[in-house]
Amino acid sequence: MSTNSSHPRATPDATYTPNVLTSPSVSLAGLKRPTEPNLVHGRILYLEDVSVSFDGFKAINHLSLDIAPGELRCIIGPNGAGKTTMMDIITGKTKPDSGQVFFGSNINLLEFNEPEIAKLGIGRKFQKPTVFEELSVFDNLELALKSDKSVRSSLFFKLSSVQKNRLIEVLETIKLEDSITRQAGNLSHGQKQWLEIGMLLMQEPKLLLLDEPVAGMTDQETQRTAELFLTLKGRHSLVVVEHDMSFIKTIAEKITVLSEGSVLAEGTFDQVQANEKVIEVYLGR
Ligand SMILES: Nc1ncnc2c1ncn2[C@@H]1O[C@H](COP(=O)(O)OP(=O)(O)OP(=O)(O)O)[C@@H](O)[C@H]1O
Ligand SMILES: [Mg+2]
Repeated sequence: MSTNSSHPRATPDATYTPNVLTSPSVSLAGLKRPTEPNLVHGRILYLEDVSVSFDGFKAINHLSLDIAPGELRCIIGPNGAGKTTMMDIITGKTKPDSGQVFFGSNINLLEFNEPEIAKLGIGRKFQKPTVFEELSVFDNLELALKSDKSVRSSLFFKLSSVQKNRLIEVLETIKLEDSITRQAGNLSHGQKQWLEIGMLLMQEPKLLLLDEPVAGMTDQETQRTAELFLTLKGRHSLVVVEHDMSFIKTIAEKITVLSEGSVLAEGTFDQVQANEKVIEVYLGR
């Protein structure tokens, strides 16, 4: 079964020039769609009864999920449970066969394509760090602000004082203030991950999706990442997918356990750990 053909994708207006800093909302002239999520109902992200199949295999199966503004939600589940596919659906990479996906109570994410969803304020961190290895830490963060990444426009790009302050604030948040001039390629794996998170933060996302952020990190790097996420929550909403249970235990408030494409259990660390169904999927029958 096709996953992406059933939902029409919106086409951005040809005159639309993205500038995440001067226009916090996406100005899609002519397409009268809201771009600022309405949070009065206490939800920043809302999935209802979402399903998607790949060649008849139900990767996501009647999935419903509710994330509150400023929440740090942890998502766990065995391999193949649909965690990454869920992020693909939220970010517009995969269109579901059925169900609803809302940003706030007013923005129907199924009407937006992948770059538009990023501009609405949904940032995504994939597992592998994707920083520009040959550039410095500073240049990577600066580059994250540019909508036009061509060499010509880069030559004429100048940071405003607001942007400079933002960059310094982000450097401190990701604890790379002593590495501003270092080439990103020379950073440790953990530092590269933080730099990429910093690049996302430069865009001031409302919602951050992080897929296995501490995979491959040392224990110390994992601990610092936990501290980082705890400082980010409240200001941003975070959805964190991880297999590292000690990391999850450190940061978790509410945990959602996915299995076979739907929610198996939800609750605190102790609640899900004691849940019979959860024990069964993790330990096998
Ligand atoms: N584009 C695709 N085409 C075909 N099958 C896919 C596609 N994306 C995901 N799947 C399948 O959907 C299922 C869910 O995969 P997904 O990557 O979402 O799992 P996951 O929970 O992220 O697992 P892991 O913990 O191993 O990362 C898997 O069986 C996977 O093979
Ligand atoms: Mg995955």
